[in-house]
Amino acid sequence: MALLSELQISWSIKQWMACAVAAIIAYNLVLAVYRLYFSPIAHFPGPKLTAATFLYEIYYNIVKLVLSVRSQHLLTTLQGPIVRINPWELHVNDPDFYEELYSRNSPRNKSKYSADQLGMPDSKFSTLGHNLLRMRRQSISNFFSIKSIRRLDHILIFMAEKLCKRIDEYKKSGKPMKIRLAFQCLTTDIVTHYAFDKTWNFLDSPDFSPEWIATIKATTEMGHIIQQLPWIITLFEALPRWTSASISPGIKLVLNWQDRMVDHIKNIMNENKRNPEMSSIANPNIFQALLDSDLPPQEKTLNRLSQEAQSIVGAGADTTANALTITTFHLLSNPPVLQKLLAELERQCLIHMLNLTSLLLNNCHIWHETSVAMTSTQVHHNEDIFPNSWDFVPERWCDRLDGGRGLECYVVNFSKGGRNCAGINLAKAELFLVLAILFRRYKMELYETETDRVCDVDMHYERYLA
Ligand code: HEM
Repeated sequence: MALLSELQISWSIKQWMACAVAAIIAYNLVLAVYRLYFSPIAHFPGPKLTAATFLYEIYYNIVKLVLSVRSQHLLTTLQGPIVRINPWELHVNDPDFYEELYSRNSPRNKSKYSADQLGMPDSKFSTLGHNLLRMRRQSISNFFSIKSIRRLDHILIFMAEKLCKRIDEYKKSGKPMKIRLAFQCLTTDIVTHYAFDKTWNFLDSPDFSPEWIATIKATTEMGHIIQQLPWIITLFEALPRWTSASISPGIKLVLNWQDRMVDHIKNIMNENKRNPEMSSIANPNIFQALLDSDLPPQEKTLNRLSQEAQSIVGAGADTTANALTITTFHLLSNPPVLQKLLAELERQCLIHMLNLTSLLLNNCHIWHETSVAMTSTQVHHNEDIFPNSWDFVPERWCDRLDGGRGLECYVVNFSKGGRNCAGINLAKAELFLVLAILFRRYKMELYETETDRVCDVDMHYERYLA
């Protein structure tokens, strides 16, 4: 009798499972048909598979780890100026449309799909609505103005000198130096000083803080996964730390980074409580100023501010370090260009040389809930605008009669419009100063660096950060 009822239960569980599987398959089939034939963007060209499902994007971004679907399609198998690259998103290949799409005057909202990928939903970077973003940006815009950056000159010089001391150590010992790691420590020290008035001093680390370098790497690797499964980060946060760490050592680093941000903000909040008149302090740091600002209370919570802190440190650390590394490589592998640079280390030209080295994707959300995006990589590699775009040719700027101004609208590495890089002035100051000091002071040469080795120079795959 007992055996019979067990059989009946297991039979009915099987039946339920079969029903559930059939329902999931049916739901996905109906969804795919809707996406293919009835979605408001069904008439746009693009491979059917990308229009019907996200599996294609997941395959490229997470499994195959190559250039994302965006670049794959747009750089190679382009089907027209507008391509549908996933069920929700259109991608535009028309450099002249960039300023229209990433406009300063017309409000643009960010798509949740794009905003989700860094797992910091309350940061400025992940803010969906235009109005909320404007309020958040205004609250810190003073900190990123050219005037504020100029006030920081002495800090930048101090940090660059610290980097030089480390180079001198290596020079003395005759050992080759991994300049990318040193640059990452430098830019992190600068941005943490900037944000919290408390530098992390990674440049002092004998082996250039390998754990921080691994944290940045883990964050960028997680990006595509979090984008597809945004709840995964909440799940890991809820699990005991040792469980998360044993599932993924990378996630442990990311969570540790979050904890560190929480500690920083807690300290600043306590400091503010002890001294409520923070506005009387001559140079409050970004977060003291935010706490002391007119922003509504929900903008000043520990959770939101620590996410903001994480996004500012992340945005300021790896991007600039990557641009410094790639530019250093190109200068060292092009002696004639280097000679020219040394002969006339001229601000305008140097800044222009840097412009093509960065890769970042941008994404925004416009009419009728349709996400429309453009890719900076693709604008920068439009051969009509930048012939031989993969080559390092600063003359394309310097030798132009207009000094390169005619090309400026196509330089989109900092994005444009109301969602452009908040730290553009700081980034340019760092790039200019550090390259000028290094190349004036040292005769460097490349050591076992290959253009096509993953992580050295060439672009192999895309992640949100470099
Ligand atoms: C070469 C270096 C850099 C590049 C290429 C770069 C590029 C970008 C790009 C393309 C965006 C727009 C992201 C998006 O919304 O999709 C952005 C945003 C941002 N960047 Fe940078 N960035 C650099 C350096 C910096 C530095 C040094 C800081 C300083 C803290 C910084 C802070 C930010 C912030 C806070 C945002 C978010 C802005 C917002 O959504 O309002 N960036 N950056």
